[in-house]
Amino acid sequence: RPRVLSGIQPTADSFHFGNYLGALRQWVDLQEDHQPFFFIADLHAITVEQDPKVLRDRCLRAAAQLLAMGIDPERSAIFIQSQVPAHAQLGWVLQCLTGFGEARRMTQFKDKSAKGGEGSASVGLFTYPVLQAADILLYRPHYVPVGEDQRQHLELTRDLAQRFNHRYKKTFRLPEPYILKATAKIADLQDPTAKMSKSASSPAGIVEMLDEPRASAKKIRSAVTDSDTVIRFDPEEKPGVSNLLTIYAALTGRSVEALEEDYSGRGYGDLKKELAEVVVDFVTPFRERTLALLEDRTHLTEVLRRGADLANEVAEATLRDVYERVGFVTAG
Ligand code: TYM
Repeated sequence: RPRVLSGIQPTADSFHFGNYLGALRQWVDLQEDHQPFFFIADLHAITVEQDPKVLRDRCLRAAAQLLAMGIDPERSAIFIQSQVPAHAQLGWVLQCLTGFGEARRMTQFKDKSAKGGEGSASVGLFTYPVLQAADILLYRPHYVPVGEDQRQHLELTRDLAQRFNHRYKKTFRLPEPYILKATAKIADLQDPTAKMSKSASSPAGIVEMLDEPRASAKKIRSAVTDSDTVIRFDPEEKPGVSNLLTIYAALTGRSVEALEEDYSGRGYGDLKKELAEVVVDFVTPFRERTLALLEDRTHLTEVLRRGADLANEVAEATLRDVYERVGFVTAG
């Protein structure tokens, strides 16, 4: 069975609809006929300052949400990145293969360091994409299910894999991004030309999976659209309406064309009201399951430990190959 791997940062109390529709839903689906490794990227989270207590809590909340949305620990290794030391270890080796200019070209660093100026950004934030390459290559996955914003990191990952394979010996598989076009970039509800993002969006622009369902309904009803009246999918001319149709289609399994037909001759108010109901029906049971899972933290940490055991086995084997090929003396 082909392997898949992906990760998510524990940098908010809740995942949002961009995370879910862009990536996490594919994680759940891919479990069917793949061998999955999914992890919570706490090493990545500390590239910007985190409160230790909050970080620990968010890691467990992330785990609870992944289980609540259908990640099945019997089929998937679900683990916390820092519990698998090989990520940081391979990360170092790959940093030594990465050009400074190459790292510089990563747009996420440019975006994230733009606010405080490059001088206040950490070196960890700068090398972040290289650690991500290590995360991926350790498991030799065929596919990496992510949203559009991760595409550049996947390209770097493939470049580094190729470079290592070429310089030493074929060690890594070149992974393919698994990006679903329809939901690859879910937009901010208040600024539909920008992606929904925990760092960039205002709270009103993000639908959080663990929001009070009524609060989410309200956000949908207040989504920014346009001054036209026709409900039509046209991301260029009508980004707000198109985003609502995308979310609607993804949550109901209906096609955008069928929705356009249903809503022809009707107003934005109807669309928003009915999508708000769909959202409430979707998030209510999800939220209940997550909160119930969070009642038993011992169970969560146990699931994560078992996931880390599995991940460590695979990751250590790859790291051994790497160390040997690089020329390190193996311990007796
Ligand atoms: P993160 O934590 O920012 O986001 C997790 C996943 O959600 C996707 N996503 C979106 N998709 C569509 N529309 C949006 N508005 C939207 N916002 C977020 C992201 O593309 C991602 O798939 N660098 C990664 C974490 C990571 C990783 C990895 C991923 C670390 N190591 C190895 C894959 C493989 C990140 O910051 O994702």
